[in-house]
Amino acid sequence: MLQEKLLYLLEQSKGQLITGGELAKALGVSRTAIWKGINTLREKGHEIEALPNSGYRLLAGSDGLSRQSIADALKTEKIGQSLVLLDTVDSTNAYLKALDTALLPDGHTVIANEQTQGRGRLGRTFHSPAGQGIYLSVLLRPQIALEEVPLLTVCAALAVYRAIGQVCGLETHIKWVNDIFYEGKKLCGILTEGLISAEMGTVESVVVGIGVNTGAVAEEVESIAATLAPLRAGRGIRNQLAAEILNQLEAVVLDFLSGKRQEILEAYTQRLFIIGKEIVVHLPRESFEATAVGLDDAGSLLVRNRQGQTVAVRAGEVSLSPLTDTTKP
Ligand code: BTN
Repeated sequence: MLQEKLLYLLEQSKGQLITGGELAKALGVSRTAIWKGINTLREKGHEIEALPNSGYRLLAGSDGLSRQSIADALKTEKIGQSLVLLDTVDSTNAYLKALDTALLPDGHTVIANEQTQGRGRLGRTFHSPAGQGIYLSVLLRPQIALEEVPLLTVCAALAVYRAIGQVCGLETHIKWVNDIFYEGKKLCGILTEGLISAEMGTVESVVVGIGVNTGAVAEEVESIAATLAPLRAGRGIRNQLAAEILNQLEAVVLDFLSGKRQEILEAYTQRLFIIGKEIVVHLPRESFEATAVGLDDAGSLLVRNRQGQTVAVRAGEVSLSPLTDTTKP
């Protein structure tokens, strides 16, 4: 596709001018086609400068998604090797689940520039404005039992934590079970959904959805949402970070499937900021105060309740007790 190739050429010489003639020659099309392609890329949010008689330049700080740039940075065998980039979609998880997943390769990945109905856990919305985040879903076909599906959220959280550290040099924390936090605010959410065989009751495939805020966050979520935007320091990071998330995800999932569950749980637990703290556990029908103690083998949170009993919390969510929450002003 012309636009994809054009963007790739501009990405290759990001920050530098290339003439319309050079682009036209490289792609075997007319200058008019290049001009039209540039306009379409601009409409999609890519920051391209056009200087009369000099050429075109993709600005160094432009943070548009490019399928080819992501593909180039992949070091994976499966995850992301089949990769679809969409301008806009309701939800990448919903999109992937609506396809005949049996026909898709293991590791098939969908990335969108915008989600109009981004979904979070517990029926919540995940704000996904155009150009302001990485919104991706990965189809996995692991041979695992139904009760192990939540462990893929643990794998994904560890992968995102590592990818953000690698690409942005940022130390983040994990909020059990599926959020990445920075300075007391949510930077990333993960939604893992298992597709179950109706006949066998086994896991047919799993969709791991990851959303990271990289740009402006909507005013209504400003008080609770963090973003990587201030760390970009005038450079685009979405392509590199998306690829690194996929690289790290494959590495962690492979470790998990080859029996390194304990190592993964330990690495994950080290990043949990609630361990040893007073928390409130929110279940669908009740909430109770407890102390976070650790994780069990299934990835459930172990808490000590006020009666001194240790209880495993499998679903639901937790918040720091208002008295111990020093992450908020
Ligand atoms: C949460 O915060 O509870 C989870 C948020 C998960 C958001 C990601 S963005 C990509 C994928 N598609 C969705 O609709 N949701 C996930």
